[in-house]
Order: sequence, then C-alpha cells, then structure tokens
Amino acid sequence: MTVDDFKYHIATMTLSPLSIQPIPYQGSKRALAPRICSLFPDSVPTLYEPFAGSAAVTLFAATHDLADRFVIGDSYTPLIDLWALIIDTPGELSDRYAALWHGQFENPSHFNDVRAEFNESSDPVLLLYLVARCVKNAVRFNRRGHFTQSADKRRTGMKPDRVTRTAHAVSRLLKGRVSLFRGDFRDCVQNAAASDLIYMDPPYQGTTYGTDKRYAAGLERERLIDGLHNFDARGVPYILSYDGQMGEKIYGEPLPDTVDADHLALHAGRSSQATINGRSDETIESLYVSRSLNAGTADIYKSRPVQDRLFA
Ligand SMILES: C[S@@+](CC[C@H](N)C(=O)[O-])C[C@H]1O[C@@H](n2cnc3c(N)ncnc32)[C@H](O)[C@@H]1O
Repeated sequence: MTVDDFKYHIATMTLSPLSIQPIPYQGSKRALAPRICSLFPDSVPTLYEPFAGSAAVTLFAATHDLADRFVIGDSYTPLIDLWALIIDTPGELSDRYAALWHGQFENPSHFNDVRAEFNESSDPVLLLYLVARCVKNAVRFNRRGHFTQSADKRRTGMKPDRVTRTAHAVSRLLKGRVSLFRGDFRDCVQNAAASDLIYMDPPYQGTTYGTDKRYAAGLERERLIDGLHNFDARGVPYILSYDGQMGEKIYGEPLPDTVDADHLALHAGRSSQATINGRSDETIESLYVSRSLNAGTADIYKSRPVQDRLFA
C-alpha cells in the first residue's frame, strides 16, 4: 500500500463505535479525525494537541501510528488531571468511577451533590462522572468557572465497564510516549519544531463571545491569529478547526490572508439540532491547514478550498 493509498484509506474510513474514547465530550472531533489525520505529513516526530478536550485527533493518530510522540494540552486543569489518571492509573480511575456511578441509584440528588463537591475540590474523577452524565455531554461553566450543566434525566451516563475498557486501552496506547500540559496553547507548543505538527480545535468564535460560555475559557480571535503568525514565522505546520457553516448560517469570520494556511471545507454531515428541528442543514467546518502541508492540492481531500465556494 502506498502512502497515498493509506491516506485515502483513512480519509474515507469511519471509527467503529467500539473505538477508544474514555471522555465523552460534546464537540469531540472523533467522527472527523480520520479526515483531519489524512492531511498529516508522512512522518510526525511529535503531534501537539493544545486544545485537547477529549483529544480525539491524538487518539486516532496514536491508534494508527501517525506520530511518534504526543503532547495533550488544555487550559482547563481538571481535564488534564483526568488525562493523567487515565494514562497513569486507569485501574484506580475505573474503580472510583464505578463507585460514583453506582451511587446515583441510591440518592436522587447524587448528580447535584457530585457537582457541588467537584466545584469545591476539582477532583478529576468527579469531572468524568459529570461530563458523562450531563445534558448532551456538554460542559457549561459560569463566570466563576463553576460547572453548571444539569443531569440528563433520560440517561445514566457512561457505564463503568466502558470506562474500564477505554481507560486501560488508552493507557496502553499512550503511556511512555505522551506529555501532558496544563495551560495556554502558546506555552504548550513552545518547543514544537518545524518537523512536528500542531492540531488545534479552539473554542469557536460563536462560543467565546456572547452568553454561551461553553468552555471554562474562551479564546479571542486576535490571540489565536497572533499564535498562528508565530507558528508561521517558526515554520511549524498546523491544522486548525475553526468555525464554519450550518445550512445558510455562517459562524465566525474567516481568518485573514496574513495567516499562511489553506482554508478548506470539511463536510461534517447533518447537524443534530437541525434534525431535531426537522431541517436538513448540513454542517460544514472550516479547516485551516499550513500551506507547507500542501492540503490545497491534496486530491485525497474531497472538499475544494472554501474561498472558491462558501466564504468568498
Ligand atoms: C472545542 S474543545 C476541544 C475538543 C477536542 N477537539 C475533542 O476532540 O474533544 C476546546 C478546548 O480548548 C480548551 N481551551 C480554551 N481556551 C484555551 C487556551 N487558551 N489554551 C488551551 N486550551 C484552551 C477548552 O478547555 C476546551 O477543552
């Protein structure tokens, strides 16, 4: 199989439902990871994912040996603490999660109690339970950084045996070849070299401004652009997921031409919200890819550059 054949293969495959994903995180790039990873160069010494969340791209890349080493970073410290438990002590994490999960059948206010305790202690095992059990697996925070999302009354959250299976699998996959980073994306990638690769999935403009505080921290557009200029100057290649379009509605302004990247459209399928509302709007996500990666000319990539069609 040639490299191009292999890239075509992963560009068109989908992940099985049994794939390893120990953190169920709304906004995960799990479904898009095969297509995003099809743009990787042939050899990547270190893949940086500084807005990791549930790190779907890192997990896909590691499963398919698309990089030698990995850096998982996020500014939300409890999430990186959770990654540390998954990788270093998956057994202890699984046991504690199982105890928490079973507790919900004995106490009607269990979720709210766990949430209050988490907002005091920032214990990462409690965070996993809250993320797994909350509405749409969608974390929400108030201005003080407290977790505010409610319990999903129709579901009981990820089953303990699934946590056990996925946490052990991820630990086996990443232990010894991953570093964790707590803090801002620019500090996370400080040591990235021109042979490395950065994949970024920051909070989108629509979730950073206004009242919808989706993550513990948003990211101002100017800081992101500043970071991209810095990576361009250092010659460090990157792939960035940022904003896009749902049906007729365009989210966020395109990044300026001073950013040295091709702007591609990634067809992400029908939005679940549109389906609920009886519409068939397609979600199209923007992908900015460093020009040095030649994504604009990659014929394995089915989508044409966005500026030709959508955001002209
Ligand atoms: C859209 S989510 C990433 C989802 C991820 N791609 C996945 O597969 O689950 C964005 C993440 O960026 C983090 N974040 C926000 N601002 C940040 C910053 N300045 N530096 C690093 N991480 C940040 C948030 O805590 C959140 O986990």
